Amino acid sequence: MKILVTGGAGFIGSNLCDLLLDRGEEVSIIDDLSTGSLDNISHLFDNPRFSYTIDTILNQDAMDRLVADCDCVVHLAAAVGVKHVLENPLSSIETNILGTEIALKLSNKYKKKILVASTSEVYGKHMHAPLKEDDNLIYGPPSTMRWSYAASKLVDEFTALAYHRTKKLEAIIIRCFNTIGPRQTGMYGMVVPRFIQQALRDEPITVYGDGKQTRTFTYVGDVVEAIYRLIKCKEGAGEVVNIGGTEEISIADLAKKIKELVGSKSEIVFIPYDQAYGKDFEDMMRRVPSLEKLNSLIGFTPVTPLDDILRYTIEYFRSRAS
Ligand SMILES: NC(=O)c1ccc[n+]([C@@H]2O[C@H](COP(=O)([O-])OP(=O)(O)OC[C@H]3O[C@@H](n4cnc5c(N)ncnc54)[C@H](O)[C@@H]3O)[C@@H](O)[C@H]2O)c1
Repeated sequence: MKILVTGGAGFIGSNLCDLLLDRGEEVSIIDDLSTGSLDNISHLFDNPRFSYTIDTILNQDAMDRLVADCDCVVHLAAAVGVKHVLENPLSSIETNILGTEIALKLSNKYKKKILVASTSEVYGKHMHAPLKEDDNLIYGPPSTMRWSYAASKLVDEFTALAYHRTKKLEAIIIRCFNTIGPRQTGMYGMVVPRFIQQALRDEPITVYGDGKQTRTFTYVGDVVEAIYRLIKCKEGAGEVVNIGGTEEISIADLAKKIKELVGSKSEIVFIPYDQAYGKDFEDMMRRVPSLEKLNSLIGFTPVTPLDDILRYTIEYFRSRAS
């Protein structure tokens, strides 16, 4: 099978390329390197089953050629991360809505199966756990730009489901919860690589807010395994599926854990949200997925314990620093 991975030079995308090639598949990618990097894929350049196009998914001609030439599309390219989206609100909305519309329209034109990456952010301000795919969604006002990421991904979900219902397009949507592991960059505000890099340099570890907000973290290796099984799973078409971990931890405890695992001298400091993100920022206090649907579709849920994931990620950043 030949799989087109949009955003294939990114964190999840490049890890997915490794897994797909290991499983004997052919892979092409498109990436504009806005948050991805050639470093993530340069080890694949000599593989005859791998090809890459450096371009934007907004280039319809390039996308037309690539979609026509594959059997299945995994659409990961997006403006990602709260900090990145807050700093680039307009281009983020354009990439996330128009880019996905192009990927879906062309997948429908050539009748190719497509998996679209959405996010746990779409759940908005819920406090209950676990979050189920058919829960109601609760957002703040549009003047609070943070919600534009969730809203743009939600439009992607509606568009994919509408293509499935009206055109019978085999579209499946995944809602990824915080995914971590090697190749994730701290440059766009992602919490784990940021904490690890601060700890490795013995700089203050900066927790935003009071640190009582909790999250679950998923190993990227588990996420790409789930993606692979979902693209092979016929029953997934027309479904929205959570992919996440279930080990809940507060961000303050996460900072402590990373400090310990690194053996760092860093102090842990708390920065008010308005200093970190500007005025009118709202955070989500809790995000724990229900994995029932994922398990029933593919017989797999993420398994790697948080301590192990953190160790792999610390190792990755250590090796890059040396
Ligand atoms: N990492 C997470 O915790 C997480 C959580 C929820 C959802 N997701 C979703 O998973 C997907 C992958 O995210 P990631 O964590 O690997 O982030 P990433 O930033 O590493 O990957 C996104 C990739 O898309 C590329 N890209 C962005 N705009 C593009 C454009 N216009 N044309 C071509 N390429 C473009 C970037 O250069 C990057 O390589 C995204 O859709 C994201 O919304 C990730």
